[in-house]
Amino acid sequence: MKNKSLVIVGAQWGDEGKGKITDYFAQKAKMVVRFSGGDNAGHIIVSEGVRHKVTIVPSGILNPKVTNVIANGAVINLPRLVSELEILKKTGVETKNLLISNRAHVVLPYHIAIDELQENARGKNKIGTTKRGIGPTYQDKVDRLGVRICDLFDPNFKARFAEIIEFKNRLITKVYEGQALDFETIYQELMSNFEKIKNQIVDTSLLIDTAIKSGEYVLFEGAQGALLDIDHGTYPFVTSSNTSANNASLGSGINHNLITTALGVVKAYCTRVGTGGFPTEQANSIGEGIRKRGNEYGSNTGRPRRVGWFDAVALNYAIRTTGLDKIFITLLDVLSGEPVVKICTSYSLDGKEITTIPPLNADYQNCQANYIEMPGWNEDITKVHSFKDLPINAQNYLNKIKELCNIDILGFSVGPDRQQTILLEPEF
Ligand code: IMP
Repeated sequence: MKNKSLVIVGAQWGDEGKGKITDYFAQKAKMVVRFSGGDNAGHIIVSEGVRHKVTIVPSGILNPKVTNVIANGAVINLPRLVSELEILKKTGVETKNLLISNRAHVVLPYHIAIDELQENARGKNKIGTTKRGIGPTYQDKVDRLGVRICDLFDPNFKARFAEIIEFKNRLITKVYEGQALDFETIYQELMSNFEKIKNQIVDTSLLIDTAIKSGEYVLFEGAQGALLDIDHGTYPFVTSSNTSANNASLGSGINHNLITTALGVVKAYCTRVGTGGFPTEQANSIGEGIRKRGNEYGSNTGRPRRVGWFDAVALNYAIRTTGLDKIFITLLDVLSGEPVVKICTSYSLDGKEITTIPPLNADYQNCQANYIEMPGWNEDITKVHSFKDLPINAQNYLNKIKELCNIDILGFSVGPDRQQTILLEPEF
Protein backbone atom coordinates (compact mmCIF):
# COMPACT_ATOMS: atom_id res chain seq x y z
CA MET A 1 0.00 0.00 0.00
CA LYS A 2 1.22 3.51 -0.84
CA ASN A 3 2.34 5.54 2.19
CA LYS A 4 0.24 8.51 3.15
CA SER A 5 2.47 10.83 5.11
CA LEU A 6 2.64 14.58 4.85
CA VAL A 7 5.27 16.79 6.46
CA ILE A 8 4.19 20.36 7.17
CA VAL A 9 6.91 22.90 7.90
CA GLY A 10 7.24 26.66 7.86
CA ALA A 11 9.17 27.81 4.81
CA GLN A 12 10.03 31.34 6.01
CA TRP A 13 10.95 32.59 9.51
CA GLY A 14 8.16 30.85 11.39
CA ASP A 15 4.62 32.02 12.18
CA GLU A 16 3.37 31.08 8.71
CA GLY A 17 0.16 29.55 10.05
CA LYS A 18 1.36 25.94 10.25
CA GLY A 19 -0.97 25.22 13.18
CA LYS A 20 -4.02 26.08 11.13
CA ILE A 21 -2.86 24.08 8.11
CA THR A 22 -1.91 21.09 10.28
CA ASP A 23 -5.31 21.22 11.96
CA TYR A 24 -6.95 21.28 8.52
CA PHE A 25 -5.13 18.19 7.24
CA ALA A 26 -5.49 16.53 10.65
CA GLN A 27 -9.18 16.12 9.84
CA LYS A 28 -8.15 13.32 7.45
CA ALA A 29 -5.19 12.03 9.46
CA LYS A 30 -4.81 9.24 11.97
CA MET A 31 -1.72 10.67 13.61
CA VAL A 32 -0.04 14.08 14.00
CA VAL A 33 3.63 14.06 14.97
CA ARG A 34 5.56 17.04 16.29
CA PHE A 35 9.21 16.35 15.50
CA SER A 36 11.28 19.42 16.45
CA GLY A 37 11.45 22.48 18.67
CA GLY A 38 9.73 23.08 21.95
CA ASP A 39 7.37 25.56 23.54
CA ASN A 40 9.11 28.37 21.66
CA ALA A 41 6.51 27.67 18.97
CA GLY A 42 3.04 29.18 19.21
CA HIS A 43 0.50 27.42 17.04
CA ILE A 44 -2.91 29.06 16.86
CA ILE A 45 -5.87 26.98 15.76
CA VAL A 46 -9.33 28.47 15.41
CA SER A 47 -12.16 25.98 15.33
CA GLU A 48 -15.86 26.78 15.38
CA GLY A 49 -15.05 30.32 16.42
CA VAL A 50 -12.89 29.23 19.38
CA ARG A 51 -9.21 30.21 19.36
CA HIS A 52 -6.85 27.61 20.83
CA LYS A 53 -3.14 28.06 21.32
CA VAL A 54 -0.67 25.22 21.62
CA THR A 55 3.08 25.46 21.94
CA ILE A 56 4.27 21.89 22.43
CA VAL A 57 1.07 19.86 22.03
CA PRO A 58 0.64 18.88 18.35
CA SER A 59 -1.95 20.84 16.39
CA GLY A 60 -4.02 17.71 15.73
CA ILE A 61 -5.22 17.74 19.35
CA LEU A 62 -8.59 19.30 18.52
CA ASN A 63 -9.49 16.22 16.55
CA PRO A 64 -10.44 13.41 18.96
CA LYS A 65 -9.82 10.72 16.31
CA VAL A 66 -6.18 11.73 15.90
CA THR A 67 -3.30 10.26 17.88
CA ASN A 68 -1.00 13.16 18.69
CA VAL A 69 2.68 12.42 19.17
CA ILE A 70 5.55 14.47 20.56
CA ALA A 71 8.52 12.69 19.02
CA ASN A 72 12.18 12.37 19.97
CA GLY A 73 13.35 15.47 18.04
CA ALA A 74 11.23 17.84 20.12
CA VAL A 75 12.22 19.18 23.53
CA ILE A 76 9.64 19.23 26.31
CA ASN A 77 9.07 21.63 29.16
CA LEU A 78 6.97 19.40 31.42
CA PRO A 79 5.17 22.06 33.52
CA ARG A 80 4.29 23.85 30.29
CA LEU A 81 3.03 20.64 28.69
CA VAL A 82 0.94 19.76 31.73
CA SER A 83 -0.59 23.23 31.97
CA GLU A 84 -1.32 23.28 28.24
CA LEU A 85 -3.14 19.97 28.56
CA GLU A 86 -5.12 21.29 31.52
CA ILE A 87 -6.20 24.39 29.59
CA LEU A 88 -7.27 22.23 26.64
CA LYS A 89 -9.23 19.92 28.93
CA LYS A 90 -11.05 22.91 30.45
CA THR A 91 -12.22 23.94 26.99
CA GLY A 92 -13.56 20.43 26.41
CA VAL A 93 -10.70 19.07 24.30
CA GLU A 94 -9.84 15.37 24.75
CA THR A 95 -6.14 15.06 25.62
CA LYS A 96 -5.75 11.33 26.32
CA ASN A 97 -4.87 10.93 22.65
CA LEU A 98 -1.40 12.43 23.22
CA LEU A 99 1.68 10.18 23.33
CA ILE A 100 5.19 11.29 24.21
CA SER A 101 8.54 9.90 23.10
CA ASN A 102 10.66 8.30 25.77
CA ARG A 103 13.70 9.70 23.93
CA ALA A 104 12.66 13.38 23.83
CA HIS A 105 14.84 15.75 25.84
CA VAL A 106 13.45 17.75 28.74
CA VAL A 107 13.68 21.55 29.07
CA LEU A 108 14.62 22.32 32.67
CA PRO A 109 14.60 25.50 34.77
CA TYR A 110 18.37 25.95 34.39
CA HIS A 111 17.97 25.95 30.60
CA ILE A 112 15.50 28.78 30.88
CA ALA A 113 17.72 30.68 33.32
CA ILE A 114 20.78 30.23 31.09
CA ASP A 115 18.84 31.29 27.96
CA GLU A 116 17.99 34.58 29.66
CA LEU A 117 21.50 35.08 31.08
CA GLN A 118 23.11 34.31 27.70
CA GLU A 119 20.84 36.75 25.92
CA ASN A 120 21.68 39.47 28.45
CA ALA A 121 25.40 38.70 28.08
CA ARG A 122 25.16 39.05 24.28
CA GLY A 123 24.18 42.69 24.67
CA LYS A 124 23.60 44.30 21.30
CA ASN A 125 24.32 41.00 19.54
CA LYS A 126 21.42 39.26 21.22
CA ILE A 127 19.53 36.72 19.13
CA GLY A 128 16.10 37.71 20.40
CA THR A 129 15.26 34.21 21.63
CA THR A 130 11.89 33.38 23.13
CA LYS A 131 13.73 32.72 26.44
CA ARG A 132 12.09 29.32 26.71
CA GLY A 133 15.42 27.55 27.25
CA ILE A 134 15.42 25.94 23.82
CA GLY A 135 19.04 26.70 22.84
CA PRO A 136 20.52 25.49 26.16
CA THR A 137 18.42 22.29 26.01
CA TYR A 138 19.63 21.35 22.52
CA GLN A 139 23.13 22.36 23.61
CA ASP A 140 22.97 19.80 26.44
CA LYS A 141 21.57 17.20 24.06
CA VAL A 142 24.57 17.55 21.76
CA ASP A 143 26.87 17.77 24.78
CA ARG A 144 25.41 14.46 26.07
CA LEU A 145 24.44 16.19 29.27
CA GLY A 146 20.73 16.23 28.54
CA VAL A 147 17.88 14.70 30.52
CA ARG A 148 15.58 12.55 28.42
CA ILE A 149 12.06 11.56 29.35
CA CYS A 150 13.21 7.94 29.81
CA ASP A 151 15.75 9.08 32.44
CA LEU A 152 12.87 9.99 34.73
CA PHE A 153 12.04 6.28 35.06
CA ASP A 154 15.60 5.50 36.16
CA PRO A 155 15.90 4.83 39.93
CA ASN A 156 19.36 6.42 39.89
CA PHE A 157 18.17 9.59 38.21
CA LYS A 158 18.04 11.78 41.31
CA ALA A 159 21.75 11.44 42.03
CA ARG A 160 22.72 12.15 38.42
CA PHE A 161 20.36 15.12 38.30
CA ALA A 162 21.89 16.55 41.48
CA GLU A 163 25.31 16.46 39.81
CA ILE A 164 23.99 18.20 36.70
CA ILE A 165 22.36 20.94 38.76
CA GLU A 166 25.49 21.46 40.79
CA PHE A 167 27.42 21.93 37.55
CA LYS A 168 24.76 24.25 36.09
CA ASN A 169 24.71 26.32 39.27
CA ARG A 170 28.44 26.82 38.98
CA LEU A 171 27.94 28.04 35.42
CA ILE A 172 25.06 30.31 36.41
CA THR A 173 26.77 31.89 39.40
CA LYS A 174 30.45 31.94 38.34
CA VAL A 175 30.19 32.71 34.63
CA TYR A 176 26.94 34.62 34.36
CA GLU A 177 26.82 35.94 37.93
CA GLY A 178 23.20 34.81 38.25
CA GLN A 179 21.22 33.23 41.11
CA ALA A 180 21.77 29.55 41.92
CA LEU A 181 18.73 27.28 41.56
CA ASP A 182 17.42 25.06 44.34
CA PHE A 183 17.85 21.38 43.47
CA GLU A 184 15.04 19.98 45.65
CA THR A 185 12.47 22.45 44.29
CA ILE A 186 13.38 21.67 40.70
CA TYR A 187 13.45 17.93 41.29
CA GLN A 188 10.07 17.85 43.07
CA GLU A 189 8.40 19.97 40.40
CA LEU A 190 9.87 17.83 37.62
CA MET A 191 8.77 14.56 39.18
CA SER A 192 5.29 15.78 40.04
CA ASN A 193 4.70 16.86 36.43
CA PHE A 194 6.24 13.61 35.19
CA GLU A 195 3.70 11.65 37.27
CA LYS A 196 0.88 13.42 35.42
CA ILE A 197 2.01 12.33 31.95
CA LYS A 198 3.87 9.12 32.80
CA ASN A 199 1.24 6.84 31.29
CA GLN A 200 1.47 8.60 27.96
CA ILE A 201 5.17 7.86 27.38
CA VAL A 202 6.02 5.27 24.71
CA ASP A 203 8.50 4.39 21.96
CA THR A 204 6.98 6.74 19.39
CA SER A 205 9.32 5.66 16.57
CA LEU A 206 7.76 2.21 16.60
CA LEU A 207 4.29 3.65 16.75
CA ILE A 208 4.78 5.97 13.76
CA ASP A 209 6.57 3.33 11.67
CA THR A 210 3.72 0.87 12.27
CA ALA A 211 1.05 3.45 11.47
CA ILE A 212 2.55 4.47 8.12
CA LYS A 213 3.32 0.90 7.10
CA SER A 214 -0.24 -0.12 7.80
CA GLY A 215 -1.50 2.57 5.42
CA GLU A 216 -2.61 5.16 7.94
CA TYR A 217 -2.42 8.87 7.11
CA VAL A 218 0.32 10.42 9.27
CA LEU A 219 1.06 14.15 9.45
CA PHE A 220 4.39 15.53 10.65
CA GLU A 221 4.25 18.99 12.12
CA GLY A 222 7.38 21.13 12.16
CA ALA A 223 8.02 24.18 14.30
CA GLN A 224 9.47 27.60 13.45
CA GLY A 225 10.55 27.94 9.81
CA ALA A 226 13.18 26.85 7.28
CA LEU A 227 15.11 30.10 7.61
CA LEU A 228 15.48 29.52 11.36
CA ASP A 229 17.04 26.07 10.82
CA ILE A 230 20.27 25.59 12.80
CA ASP A 231 22.15 24.37 9.68
CA HIS A 232 20.54 26.20 6.79
CA GLY A 233 18.89 29.21 8.42
CA THR A 234 20.23 32.73 8.75
CA TYR A 235 22.80 31.75 11.41
CA PRO A 236 23.35 32.81 14.18
CA PHE A 237 19.86 34.33 14.24
CA VAL A 238 18.18 30.95 14.18
CA THR A 239 16.65 28.49 16.59
CA SER A 240 18.69 25.56 17.90
CA SER A 241 17.03 22.69 16.06
CA ASN A 242 16.62 21.48 12.49
CA THR A 243 13.31 22.95 11.46
CA SER A 244 13.69 21.38 8.03
CA ALA A 245 11.24 18.94 6.45
CA ASN A 246 14.29 16.72 5.98
CA ASN A 247 14.41 16.39 9.75
CA ALA A 248 10.97 14.77 9.99
CA SER A 249 12.41 11.27 9.65
CA LEU A 250 15.31 11.84 12.05
CA GLY A 251 13.20 13.75 14.56
CA SER A 252 10.71 10.91 14.70
CA GLY A 253 12.94 7.90 14.12
CA ILE A 254 11.63 6.52 10.84
CA ASN A 255 12.98 5.69 7.38
CA HIS A 256 12.94 8.80 5.16
CA ASN A 257 11.34 6.69 2.42
CA LEU A 258 8.18 6.62 4.51
CA ILE A 259 7.63 10.33 3.92
CA THR A 260 5.44 10.97 0.88
CA THR A 261 5.08 14.75 0.54
CA ALA A 262 6.79 17.73 2.17
CA LEU A 263 4.68 20.85 2.31
CA GLY A 264 6.08 24.31 3.05
CA VAL A 265 3.68 26.81 4.55
CA VAL A 266 4.39 30.40 3.45
CA LYS A 267 2.68 33.66 4.16
CA ALA A 268 1.63 35.81 1.22
CA TYR A 269 4.26 38.25 2.57
CA CYS A 270 7.12 37.77 5.06
CA THR A 271 7.53 38.30 8.79
CA ARG A 272 10.36 37.76 11.20
CA VAL A 273 10.66 38.07 14.98
CA GLY A 274 14.01 38.49 16.62
CA THR A 275 17.20 39.81 15.10
CA GLY A 276 18.83 39.02 11.73
CA GLY A 277 18.91 40.04 8.06
CA PHE A 278 15.56 40.63 6.36
CA PRO A 279 16.06 42.19 2.90
CA THR A 280 12.37 42.75 2.10
CA GLU A 281 11.57 44.33 5.48
CA GLN A 282 9.16 47.27 5.32
CA ALA A 283 9.86 49.28 8.46
CA ASN A 284 7.35 51.89 7.27
CA SER A 285 3.62 52.50 6.89
CA ILE A 286 3.23 49.57 4.47
CA GLY A 287 4.73 47.21 7.08
CA GLU A 288 2.58 48.76 9.81
CA GLY A 289 -0.58 48.30 7.76
CA ILE A 290 0.19 44.64 7.10
CA ARG A 291 1.13 44.10 10.77
CA LYS A 292 -2.22 45.51 11.90
CA ARG A 293 -4.35 43.64 9.35
CA GLY A 294 -2.46 40.40 9.85
CA ASN A 295 -2.28 40.78 13.65
CA GLU A 296 1.45 40.26 13.38
CA TYR A 297 2.39 40.08 17.05
CA GLY A 298 4.20 37.07 18.53
CA SER A 299 1.60 34.64 19.88
CA ASN A 300 4.08 33.59 22.57
CA THR A 301 5.93 36.75 23.44
CA GLY A 302 3.55 39.45 22.15
CA ARG A 303 6.46 41.08 20.30
CA PRO A 304 5.49 43.02 17.13
CA ARG A 305 6.74 41.02 14.16
CA ARG A 306 8.91 42.63 11.53
CA VAL A 307 7.02 42.67 8.23
CA GLY A 308 8.20 42.63 4.60
CA TRP A 309 7.27 41.79 1.01
CA PHE A 310 7.19 38.23 -0.27
CA ASP A 311 10.72 37.01 -0.89
CA ALA A 312 11.04 34.48 -3.74
CA VAL A 313 14.82 34.24 -3.25
CA ALA A 314 14.34 33.16 0.35
CA LEU A 315 11.58 30.73 -0.62
CA ASN A 316 13.69 29.16 -3.39
CA TYR A 317 16.47 28.72 -0.86
CA ALA A 318 14.02 27.12 1.59
CA ILE A 319 12.58 24.81 -1.07
CA ARG A 320 16.09 23.51 -1.81
CA THR A 321 17.51 23.23 1.69
CA THR A 322 14.45 21.99 3.50
CA GLY A 323 13.33 19.62 0.75
CA LEU A 324 9.85 20.85 -0.20
CA ASP A 325 7.51 19.31 -2.78
CA LYS A 326 4.66 21.83 -2.56
CA ILE A 327 3.75 25.06 -0.85
CA PHE A 328 0.64 26.34 0.89
CA ILE A 329 0.08 30.12 0.95
CA THR A 330 -1.57 31.64 4.03
CA LEU A 331 -2.89 35.09 4.92
CA LEU A 332 -3.59 36.11 1.33
CA ASP A 333 -6.51 38.23 2.60
CA VAL A 334 -4.09 40.45 4.56
CA LEU A 335 -2.73 41.91 1.30
CA SER A 336 -6.20 43.12 0.22
CA GLY A 337 -6.13 46.89 -0.03
CA GLU A 338 -2.47 47.23 -1.06
CA PRO A 339 -2.48 49.19 -4.34
CA VAL A 340 0.75 47.48 -5.42
CA VAL A 341 2.17 44.16 -4.25
CA LYS A 342 5.86 43.35 -4.59
CA ILE A 343 7.82 40.12 -4.86
CA CYS A 344 11.57 40.03 -4.34
CA THR A 345 13.26 38.18 -7.22
CA SER A 346 16.96 38.79 -6.44
CA TYR A 347 19.26 40.61 -4.06
CA SER A 348 22.01 43.10 -4.82
CA LEU A 349 25.12 42.60 -2.71
CA ASP A 350 28.31 44.63 -3.24
CA GLY A 351 27.24 45.56 -6.76
CA LYS A 352 26.45 41.96 -7.75
CA GLU A 353 23.04 40.41 -8.28
CA ILE A 354 22.54 37.17 -6.32
CA THR A 355 19.67 34.73 -6.11
CA THR A 356 20.50 32.85 -2.94
CA ILE A 357 21.01 33.62 0.76
CA PRO A 358 24.66 34.35 1.61
CA PRO A 359 26.04 32.48 4.64
CA LEU A 360 27.27 35.54 6.56
CA ASN A 361 24.67 37.56 8.40
CA ALA A 362 26.74 40.72 7.79
CA ASP A 363 26.28 40.13 4.04
CA TYR A 364 22.63 39.27 4.42
CA GLN A 365 22.05 42.53 6.32
CA ASN A 366 23.56 44.36 3.33
CA CYS A 367 21.47 42.64 0.67
CA GLN A 368 19.14 45.00 -1.15
CA ALA A 369 15.97 43.39 -2.46
CA ASN A 370 15.11 43.72 -6.16
CA TYR A 371 11.39 43.47 -6.84
CA ILE A 372 8.80 42.93 -9.46
CA GLU A 373 5.69 45.00 -8.82
CA MET A 374 2.17 43.84 -9.54
CA PRO A 375 -1.17 45.60 -9.21
CA GLY A 376 -2.90 44.69 -5.93
CA TRP A 377 -6.58 44.09 -5.19
CA ASN A 378 -9.09 45.85 -3.00
CA GLU A 379 -11.81 43.26 -2.58
CA ASP A 380 -12.48 41.45 0.69
CA ILE A 381 -11.49 37.88 -0.20
CA THR A 382 -12.20 36.26 3.17
CA LYS A 383 -15.28 34.46 1.84
CA VAL A 384 -13.95 33.05 -1.42
CA HIS A 385 -14.19 29.29 -1.85
CA SER A 386 -12.12 28.71 -4.95
CA PHE A 387 -9.16 30.05 -6.90
CA LYS A 388 -11.41 31.40 -9.65
CA ASP A 389 -13.42 33.42 -7.09
CA LEU A 390 -10.28 35.45 -6.35
CA PRO A 391 -9.85 38.85 -8.01
CA ILE A 392 -7.71 38.42 -11.12
CA ASN A 393 -4.81 40.37 -9.55
CA ALA A 394 -4.76 37.97 -6.58
CA GLN A 395 -4.79 35.02 -9.01
CA ASN A 396 -1.88 36.59 -10.90
CA TYR A 397 -0.01 37.09 -7.65
CA LEU A 398 -0.27 33.41 -6.71
CA ASN A 399 0.62 32.32 -10.24
CA LYS A 400 3.70 34.54 -10.19
CA ILE A 401 4.92 32.95 -6.93
CA LYS A 402 4.40 29.51 -8.46
CA GLU A 403 6.35 30.48 -11.57
CA LEU A 404 9.23 32.17 -9.72
CA CYS A 405 9.67 29.29 -7.31
CA ASN A 406 8.86 26.50 -9.76
CA ILE A 407 6.71 24.70 -7.23
CA ASP A 408 3.07 23.64 -7.04
CA ILE A 409 0.70 25.50 -4.76
CA LEU A 410 -1.32 22.94 -2.85
CA GLY A 411 -3.72 25.56 -1.55
CA PHE A 412 -4.17 28.95 0.02
CA SER A 413 -6.05 30.43 2.95
CA VAL A 414 -7.97 33.65 3.40
CA GLY A 415 -8.67 33.72 7.13
CA PRO A 416 -8.07 31.87 10.38
CA ASP A 417 -10.98 29.42 10.24
CA ARG A 418 -10.88 25.89 8.81
CA GLN A 419 -13.54 26.95 6.29
CA GLN A 420 -11.25 29.63 4.92
CA THR A 421 -8.81 27.06 3.55
CA ILE A 422 -8.90 26.31 -0.18
CA LEU A 423 -7.23 23.30 -1.76
CA LEU A 424 -6.08 23.49 -5.38
CA GLU A 425 -4.96 19.89 -5.72
CA PRO A 426 -4.70 16.69 -3.64
CA GLU A 427 -1.75 16.46 -1.26
CA PHE A 428 -0.50 13.10 -2.60
P1 IMP B 1 14.69 30.34 20.35
O1 IMP B 1 14.09 29.30 19.48
O2 IMP B 1 13.79 30.73 21.49
O3 IMP B 1 16.08 30.02 20.80
O4 IMP B 1 14.83 31.69 19.48
C1 IMP B 1 15.73 31.78 18.38
C2 IMP B 1 15.14 32.59 17.26
O5 IMP B 1 14.05 31.88 16.69
C3 IMP B 1 14.60 33.97 17.66
O6 IMP B 1 14.80 34.87 16.59
C4 IMP B 1 13.12 33.70 17.84
O7 IMP B 1 12.36 34.88 17.68
C5 IMP B 1 12.88 32.71 16.73
N1 IMP B 1 11.74 31.84 16.99
C6 IMP B 1 11.66 30.80 17.84
N2 IMP B 1 10.46 30.24 17.80
C7 IMP B 1 9.75 30.90 16.88
C8 IMP B 1 8.44 30.76 16.37
O8 IMP B 1 7.67 29.87 16.73
N3 IMP B 1 8.09 31.66 15.41
C9 IMP B 1 8.93 32.60 14.95
N4 IMP B 1 10.15 32.77 15.40
C10 IMP B 1 10.56 31.93 16.36
